[in-house]
Amino acid sequence: MSVLNKIKTVLTTPIRDIEGRLKKGYYFLSLEISLTYLCNSRCTFCNIWKIYKENPNLLKKELSKEEWIDFLSKNNKYLAWVSLTGGEPLLKDGAIDIINYLLNNGKNVEITTNAIAYKYIIGNLEKIKNKKKLFVGVSLDGPKEIHDKLRGVPGNFDNAIKLLEWLEQNNFNFGISVTISYQNAPYIMELFEFLEKRGWIDKVSFRVATISQYYRNEQKIVITKEHIQSIKEALLKIYKGYPRFRKDKFYFGNLLFLEGKIDFDCVAGRNFLFIDPYGNVYPCLYRLDKKLGNIKENPNLLNYLGKFKRDCKCWSECHYLPARRSSTKELLSYIWFRLFSNKKHL
Ligand SMILES: C[S@@+](CC[C@H](N)C(=O)[O-])C[C@H]1O[C@@H](n2cnc3c(N)ncnc32)[C@H](O)[C@@H]1O
Ligand code: SF4
Ligand code: SF4
Repeated sequence: MSVLNKIKTVLTTPIRDIEGRLKKGYYFLSLEISLTYLCNSRCTFCNIWKIYKENPNLLKKELSKEEWIDFLSKNNKYLAWVSLTGGEPLLKDGAIDIINYLLNNGKNVEITTNAIAYKYIIGNLEKIKNKKKLFVGVSLDGPKEIHDKLRGVPGNFDNAIKLLEWLEQNNFNFGISVTISYQNAPYIMELFEFLEKRGWIDKVSFRVATISQYYRNEQKIVITKEHIQSIKEALLKIYKGYPRFRKDKFYFGNLLFLEGKIDFDCVAGRNFLFIDPYGNVYPCLYRLDKKLGNIKENPNLLNYLGKFKRDCKCWSECHYLPARRSSTKELLSYIWFRLFSNKKHL
């Protein structure tokens, strides 16, 4: 690659981000909303699917579609990016209306799905008219047998592939979200070889499974030093084996975080907030111990900003990307990383 092309490639993302910031004026806030804890999966590394099995009455406390849209309309001028998660976000009654509302108001919207109910998902996505700013992430955690075993639902892998094919044929922006744990680390290369054959290797983003209150997996997963080593080896193989991977902080972050060598200018509580299905506001989904309030009592998001002082470190693309979008320090670090620090880590 010529030097000019390299500079062009490295600068594409920052230029797009700066452009976004200028155009959006005072649209500066990224939100992650967990629309529902309803879930049709049986994952082994996340226990959200058990919440309403253990406590069905809690479901009634979730905010309704109307309440979400009312809240979003009150904060319309601050919002730039909204990421919808869960549970399985499209199982929320009226989820597609919320998505359409956001897209029609010029927001960038991301949703992540387990693809189990893929026909239902497609039926919903067909109702979207304005899909330019929508990104659909499909979870895939291993080759067929491993994925289905880890997610506890036979046929889930095949459904995910059918959904990915449909998204591709229908010109949606889509990606493949891989969660790596000690359970699937040995099989990740096999998954990547499969994705390379399908021409989807550039669509992949991955994170390392965490133990957190959000995923309700505190006692269930014990990650040892050996597990971390096996995850690191898998990531290194990926970096070396697939030159088409973007070699930047976005991807290296997972690896360097495992070695305690990286941090980022986290904007949680400044330019980023997380809201759970009941309207509780937190700096991010890892800090459920730091509740900032509830949107039913106080819908104005400005009230929640600047009240959280970070005393933690993590790595996940969901939190890194808002930082890169709104922290100048992080943007410069991204450019530096892409220009100068690739080879050092390989
Ligand atoms: C909580 S899920 C919600 C969306 C949907 N249910 C799905 O599985 O794609 C969002 C993402 O979190 C990931 N995830 C689940 N358990 C996790 C854990 N323990 N640590 C990190 N990410 C996890 C999932 O693999 C998925 O990509
Ligand atoms: S990872 Fe997604 S599909 Fe699996 S239990 Fe958690 S919310 Fe449900
Ligand atoms: S560093 Fe991670 S866990 Fe801590 S506030 Fe930021 S996003 Fe949340």
